[in-house]
Amino acid sequence: MLTKITKNKKQYLRKVLKMSTDVIVGTQWGDEGKGKITDLLSKDYDIIARYQGGCNAGHTVVVGKEQFIFHLLPSGILHQKTLCLIGNGVVLDLEALFEEIDFITSRGINIEGRLFVDLKTHIILPYHKIIDRLNEEKKGKNKIGTTTKGIGPAYVDKYSRSGIRVCDIIHADRLENKLNILLEQKQEYLYQNYQVKLSPDQIKEIKEKCHNYGEKIKKFSIDGSLFLYENIKKQKNILFEGAQGVMLDVDHGTYPYVTSSNPIAGGVCTGCGITPLSITRIIGIAKAYTTRVGSGPFPTELSDETGEKMREYGHEYGATTGRPRRCGWFDAPVVKYANRINGISEIVLTKLDVLNFLSKIRICKEYKIDNKIYKYFPADSYLAKQIEPVYEEFDGWDEDISNVENYRDLPKNAKKYVEAIEKTIDCKVSIISVGPERDMTIIR
Ligand code: GDP
Ligand code: IMO
Ligand code: MG
Repeated sequence: MLTKITKNKKQYLRKVLKMSTDVIVGTQWGDEGKGKITDLLSKDYDIIARYQGGCNAGHTVVVGKEQFIFHLLPSGILHQKTLCLIGNGVVLDLEALFEEIDFITSRGINIEGRLFVDLKTHIILPYHKIIDRLNEEKKGKNKIGTTTKGIGPAYVDKYSRSGIRVCDIIHADRLENKLNILLEQKQEYLYQNYQVKLSPDQIKEIKEKCHNYGEKIKKFSIDGSLFLYENIKKQKNILFEGAQGVMLDVDHGTYPYVTSSNPIAGGVCTGCGITPLSITRIIGIAKAYTTRVGSGPFPTELSDETGEKMREYGHEYGATTGRPRRCGWFDAPVVKYANRINGISEIVLTKLDVLNFLSKIRICKEYKIDNKIYKYFPADSYLAKQIEPVYEEFDGWDEDISNVENYRDLPKNAKKYVEAIEKTIDCKVSIISVGPERDMTIIR
């Protein structure tokens, strides 16, 4: 079922990937095409690991006529020789995980002995999803626009030290004790904050599900940090697949309109238990324009026909929730900021083909706030309201580039655009993606 990638691309990938411990990181507000690129590169890695987030992620991989959307499984799972790890920094919805496992198994992918889950990974329980939804409803027009997958409430429990982890859920007695205490606390919390009560049937169902999933997850559970340590010592190639993006990072994003984890490359060390010294490359994924789903600042947003064209050509609808994504011009202060925070080794520029038929294309080179120039997204995201983007305009290329295989064959104006991005963000673009499929990729 796997399509071939051309010989020169294979050779290039092999050459680059010698004993690498690399990170894929989203440089904008998520949905940059991390799934496609992780899948593309996975062939030459031994292990692919997720280090944060949960099933709020939706990572699309297109292979021939088949489309896979991964929420929890690392996007390297389609390569039968690759091992996959869900690291301790992820919050794990077991129901969603087993649905995903059933789905890919039904499509002929064998995961036996290839998928591992860290014993320290926290579990998303049904009450986390209920709280997420009620929280959003209560916030009304100030809502964050979460995926309502229970991500925030599960991380709250992790940090307030009342979470249930994989190592708990696989031990029936321990699980039962923890659930008895936690369910009582949650009942109280739900009633006090939302006047909601879980029915005895709901409680019974939560307990039964937890015990069932506890049994099912047992065989996948390992000490993930030790597994990685041993494989790094054996000089295996490891790729960490970030979810979301820098601007959704709980510390460095547009707080409070962020997710509850650390998608930045630094998140790998806490989220998988490896030393920062072992990381060799940080691969930033950037869309050739910008999108965002959910509320919050978006300085280059287009609420006009051009924005709609981007949404339609780019199929910009959430892979997890189906919501239309907000679209706008490429925002260099955002990607420069991502470069600064992560120390990006190279950029993969995706979805260049979506701009095919625009006559004029803009890059926001810097921001003006109160007559002061900002080269990076400001630390105080409340300033975002006052941002005046400073644009540079480029001529479009008015032709379809989705079949172009070599950089030199791109239209002159497309190359000008790519090179202007490189110059503005001060980072080389090593790969350009011109379509959703594996082969629609230009390696420079
Ligand atoms: P992720 O969350 O970063 O993995 O990105 P998503 O999968 O949520 O969104 C990216 C979308 O763009 C998916 O529908 C991909 O199939 C699609 N895609 C990825 N790269 C390209 C590209 O270069 N061109 C086009 N037209 N679509 C792409
Ligand atoms: P991938 O990995 C885009 C957004 C939500 C919301 C905010 C908080 O596919 O790039 P949460 O449910 O995490 O508490 O929601 O974060 N968000 C994403 N936006 N891509 C994602 O993942 C996202 N995961 C969460 O829309 O604004
Ligand atoms: Mg996505």
